[in-house]
Amino acid sequence: MLMFNSANKVAFITGAAHGQGRAVALALAKEGTDIVAFDVARNLEYPAYTFGSSAELDSLKADVEALGVQCLTVAGDVRSDADIVRAVDETMSRFGRIDILFNNAGICAYGLAHELEEDAWDAMLDINLKGAWLVARRVIPVMIEQRSGVIINNSSIAGLRGMGRLSHYAASKWGLVGLTKSWAIELAPYTIRVNSIHPTGVNTPMNDGLAALEGTTTQEIAERSAGNLLPVPWVEPDDVAGMVLYLTSDAARYITGSQFVLDAGLLTR
Ligand SMILES: NC(=O)c1ccc[n+]([C@@H]2O[C@H](COP(=O)([O-])OP(=O)(O)OC[C@H]3O[C@@H](n4cnc5c(N)ncnc54)[C@H](O)[C@@H]3O)[C@@H](O)[C@H]2O)c1
Repeated sequence: MLMFNSANKVAFITGAAHGQGRAVALALAKEGTDIVAFDVARNLEYPAYTFGSSAELDSLKADVEALGVQCLTVAGDVRSDADIVRAVDETMSRFGRIDILFNNAGICAYGLAHELEEDAWDAMLDINLKGAWLVARRVIPVMIEQRSGVIINNSSIAGLRGMGRLSHYAASKWGLVGLTKSWAIELAPYTIRVNSIHPTGVNTPMNDGLAALEGTTTQEIAERSAGNLLPVPWVEPDDVAGMVLYLTSDAARYITGSQFVLDAGLLTR
């Protein structure tokens, strides 16, 4: 039986301050993985909801270190190559390797295509899609040198279907599938695996923020965008963490270029 075997590895996680990134950081830390927690750690102009904070990064660091592994926190924006280079340099000085990249930082906001401002389109694509590439561009050479690594891109069910009022979000998330499959081809010779995950609504601050912007409840937001087959309004960040744990493990050593759906059955219909 193959084990998870995540001990003594290093994971670089974007959007780690809260939500899914935080849950994945803690799950990997429990398996013995050192964590690099990268997050913008301040509110951006768009969307006008609450982003992660430096206090949340500090609290994650304390929780990770309480599990007996190390945690490096970096405040930075996935749109900034300078921030990414600084983070990768600090990671290499501290740990000397990067085994896992979880490209997770992302934003979500509603808007009909014909009413969207150009700035909203640019922010969505720059953070969700270009940001994943900017980070990977600096991490991939490290993994090539090691001749090993695992990259997971956090897409969405919106990366596998159309979603009204979310066309810019869906475009960014479909784009991640293109990156995933193409990087899998480029990186297979180095035993670097690349997969994407596709959650339905997840119970995170993102949906609280969308609810506040829409003047409704988090549950209503989850049900509106989802319509899960199983009788749950959303899945939990720990469910996402379980999927990431599997994909980063040796149990998934021959899985690359694939899309992993965590949708409570939604896409079955
Ligand atoms: N919540 C959902 O229902 C859901 C469903 C499917 C997929 N997703 C995707 O999962 C990922 C994580 O979402 P979440 O639900 O945890 O969201 P969240 O808003 O709760 O957390 C996202 C984190 O990313 C950080 N971040 C945002 N922009 C950043 C930037 N430019 N640079 C660095 N960090 C940045 C935020 O500060 C925050 O800590 C996103 O890519 C999202 O699109 C979310």
